[in-house]
Amino acid sequence: MRRILVTSALPYANGHIHIGHLVEYLQTDIWVRFQKLRGRRCVYICADDTHGTAIMIRARQEDLGEEELIARMKRAHIDDFAGFDIEFDHYGSTNSQATREVCGQVWAALRKAGLIEQREVTQLYDAQAGTFLADRFVRGTCLKCNSPNQYGDSCDRCGAHYSPTDLIDPVSTLSNTKPEIRTADHLFVNIEKLHGFLDDWTQGGKHLQPEVANYLKGHFLCEPLRDWDVSRPAPYFGFEIPDSPGNYWYVWFDAPIGYIGSTVEWCRKHDERFDDWWRCPETEIHHFIGKDITYFHTLFWPAMLKAAGFSLPEKVHIHGFLTVGGEKMSKSKGTFIRASTYLDHLAPAYLRYYYASKLTARMDDIDLNFEEFAAKVNADMVGNIVNLASRTARFAEQTGLSAEYPDDDGLFDKAAADGQAIAEAYESGDFARAIRIIMVAGDRANQYVEQQAPWNLRKDPTKTDRLRDVCTVGLNLFRQLAIYLAPVLPRLARQTSELLGEKIESWDQSQKPLLGTPVGKFEHMMRRVDPRQVEAMVAAGAEPTEDDSPPESVPFDNDAPLLAEPLAETIGFDEFAKVDLRVARVLSAEDVPGAKKLLKLTLGLGGDNRREVFAGIKGVYKPEKLVGRLVICAANLAPRKMKFGTSEGMIVAAGGGGGEVYLLAPDHGAKPGQRVH
Ligand code: 2FM
Ligand code: ZN
Repeated sequence: MRRILVTSALPYANGHIHIGHLVEYLQTDIWVRFQKLRGRRCVYICADDTHGTAIMIRARQEDLGEEELIARMKRAHIDDFAGFDIEFDHYGSTNSQATREVCGQVWAALRKAGLIEQREVTQLYDAQAGTFLADRFVRGTCLKCNSPNQYGDSCDRCGAHYSPTDLIDPVSTLSNTKPEIRTADHLFVNIEKLHGFLDDWTQGGKHLQPEVANYLKGHFLCEPLRDWDVSRPAPYFGFEIPDSPGNYWYVWFDAPIGYIGSTVEWCRKHDERFDDWWRCPETEIHHFIGKDITYFHTLFWPAMLKAAGFSLPEKVHIHGFLTVGGEKMSKSKGTFIRASTYLDHLAPAYLRYYYASKLTARMDDIDLNFEEFAAKVNADMVGNIVNLASRTARFAEQTGLSAEYPDDDGLFDKAAADGQAIAEAYESGDFARAIRIIMVAGDRANQYVEQQAPWNLRKDPTKTDRLRDVCTVGLNLFRQLAIYLAPVLPRLARQTSELLGEKIESWDQSQKPLLGTPVGKFEHMMRRVDPRQVEAMVAAGAEPTEDDSPPESVPFDNDAPLLAEPLAETIGFDEFAKVDLRVARVLSAEDVPGAKKLLKLTLGLGGDNRREVFAGIKGVYKPEKLVGRLVICAANLAPRKMKFGTSEGMIVAAGGGGGEVYLLAPDHGAKPGQRVH
């Protein structure tokens, strides 16, 4: 029997799970469920990735211990995953004794192999915060174009790359003070010594997608591999290096080792032999990751495993990023949707199905398009698959299934034969293809039910046997597809089990019809997606929530906006209070033909209270993206006649001219009609 260990990338403990992360966890969960259904011994291991500067700083800002912070986040992650039916065999943490021990073993092996070297590193140091500064905690003026307020590693304005020590007037974003330049000893892994091994392992055609192997060859393996800096001086939240006191393993050293540490915990809990899983050539190890962390998993990680004598991955499955409506996910547009926000509005099965229908074995980005999402779910899941059960099960409640399988023009056999191609598609990660084959089989089955029209047979008392036969065929074709879809739709598989009184637990069940058994009471299986639920979810995602992650540090803001637009003269409170600002919901938004900058918005202030306003935000906000979100409007402005109509108010936005516009929104919980004081 194949023995398979599967992992997804360990999510960082400094942020919540969002729909972008879910691509990977759903992809992995589907693959694992498929393997289990096929009867393989398959174990799905994951953990939180808990160490590093970002966690340390966030804990300080929230006035929490790091342990408390990561414990909270782990609970939230576990709840989010469970809400999407993502089922791990073990979910651990990199901050565990087991991971610490494995780090020690890997380290000892690297030392023994002579791969560790020590060198001085010069870095910016924040004396007030008492820490060396990672690039993203430094801001300053670009040395190439003099643009102020740029990050420590590159300039947003001219694209130059540099070292933070080169920035003009650097400022630490942790304390707003000027950092010092300090040196410290760091430990490096000389992975160039394993270059030959990595050439073979990456280019052998077995473990990586071809586009990944080519990328590695073209970008890294064509020249000597650079040493990898794996230590950080104190203070650092992580594991202290046993033979280098005051130095800690860099978070990316212990993160992948967390895969092994978490497996150790699972083995202890289930009385399994560790060596069967990480030191056994027969066990296949499969990692699922996103393309942004290719480098770590295809060069450093195999090198470490090789040096430490652990098994190498059979395959690293690399997926692309999620875009929403063809664009990068964005907080302000409400497309940075948290897992928990999604679950407040929509069923997990919809997203499981939609992602499955888009995922292939390639590294391409996948796009979430909400119209397509609703259309696919409604047409395929509800209109095709569930429809088969809802149009037949009711008529079979009294009679149960026929004892012999009736003639169905070969439909059952045809779909049984499809099983091979569907299984191959799942196995190779081409879920989109698996779904296409299943839907074609569903169309054939629906045509049969349509032609046989059990709803008419029911009216004729002489056709009871025929009715039972037709329902037996319809329900068996449905059951077959529910089995094929079980990795994607485990809830539907459970509902099918309840309806037909037979647990779905093996792929082989799809090859033989179910006969002579009772049929349970048909319960509603799946609702259609209502586009208003999707709109409400996007609107909820767009509003900052109370417990929104604070920025990693307090950024340094320069005074350019104030210089560009100096403060207005002082006014008394009474004068300010004359402006009646209200929370409003955008009910509709449309383009104003002929106007360069205007959109026409209908704002709802609660009940039937509406305002039509013209806002100069065309080209910055897409009308369809505004509908449903909250804005702030000046509600007692006298109506103003404009060229295109009368504007009955104004929405409030920030911006420095030159087309820059940022709409203001209240925090989560505010309601249309509430006054802004
Ligand atoms: O990129 C990330 O989110 C990392 N936390 C992934 C770590 S994967 C593994 F190496 F642990
Ligand atoms: Zn620049």
